[in-house]
Amino acid sequence: MSEGRVTEARARACANIALVKYWGKRDAARNLPAAGSLSLTLGALVTETTVRFDPGLSVDTMQLDDLPARPTDLAKVIAFLDLVRAQAGITTRAHVASRNHFPTASGLASSASGYAALAVAATTAAGIAMSPRALSQLARHGSGSAARSIYGAFVRMHAGHANDGSDAYAEPITSRLADRVRMVIAVVGGGAPKPQLSRGAMEHTAETSPLYRAWLDVVPHDLAVAEGALAAADLPALGAIAEANALAMHASAIAARPAIIYWQPPTLALLALVRDLRARGASAWATMDAGPHVKILTTLDEAEAIADAVRRVPGVTDVLISGPGPGAGTVST
Ligand code: PMV
Repeated sequence: MSEGRVTEARARACANIALVKYWGKRDAARNLPAAGSLSLTLGALVTETTVRFDPGLSVDTMQLDDLPARPTDLAKVIAFLDLVRAQAGITTRAHVASRNHFPTASGLASSASGYAALAVAATTAAGIAMSPRALSQLARHGSGSAARSIYGAFVRMHAGHANDGSDAYAEPITSRLADRVRMVIAVVGGGAPKPQLSRGAMEHTAETSPLYRAWLDVVPHDLAVAEGALAAADLPALGAIAEANALAMHASAIAARPAIIYWQPPTLALLALVRDLRARGASAWATMDAGPHVKILTTLDEAEAIADAVRRVPGVTDVLISGPGPGAGTVST
């Protein structure tokens, strides 16, 4: 890009929900995960981000859902833009406008879609072409889960071993299950901002939880089972390992000192409902992230009936149904 003129690009990315969770880092400065993870990108949870490099700006600015970004969010975005500027060999400041089409910062993974969309929009506006793998590595600096949102449907994130993070990237996994699965998302508590952001919470878990080691030990097993289930298009096997893995992640966080408890009473009621539905023959498995919401993995055919059952649980304020979504990409401005 020429430093002298305004350049702009817009990108869209979908959030993803991990079926084998990322919870813990091996390098905080480079934001390298301690273990791999595996996720499903969701078409109903979309972030759209526009980046405009403008020689007339003296500082970076950002609007999130039409409001000025909070200073802590802006500082992270500036650090991310600095990475892009360094790669592009420019110093131009930018204006970023991002819009989430779902509740922000509520445990519905807005950082994943946000940084994936920002990676695509910022590199395009800066005039640098990047492979999807390189984009996943760039997005990872903003948020570990964002690396996965570069791709659609089922995605595997590799923790890697290299100190420079060159082997920590995401890649897509093809599975016939992509045509059949749905996620029913039960929003608990109105999508209010969550009390503890995942970045600090996973560091606190790693430092203080007596169960953290056991959590890290089980992830490679859970990844192997999940990948086998995807290869065999075996939804019950995928669902069972996803639910078990989410419970193990939360157990490690709950055992931190002081405890990190994301669950609220409706969360437990939803977990009981999911077990009950399963006992009656339904395809339904639960997973939870850094918030009180419950995401239920199910089939295209059963999603509506499960959503109806979920809506009747007191404390559930919204229910979304999503199928797999596409990878991140540019859209016209
Ligand atoms: O990408 P982060 O730093 O927001 O962490 C994501 C953590 C979980 O959502 C709880 C798990 C995951 O793998 O997405």
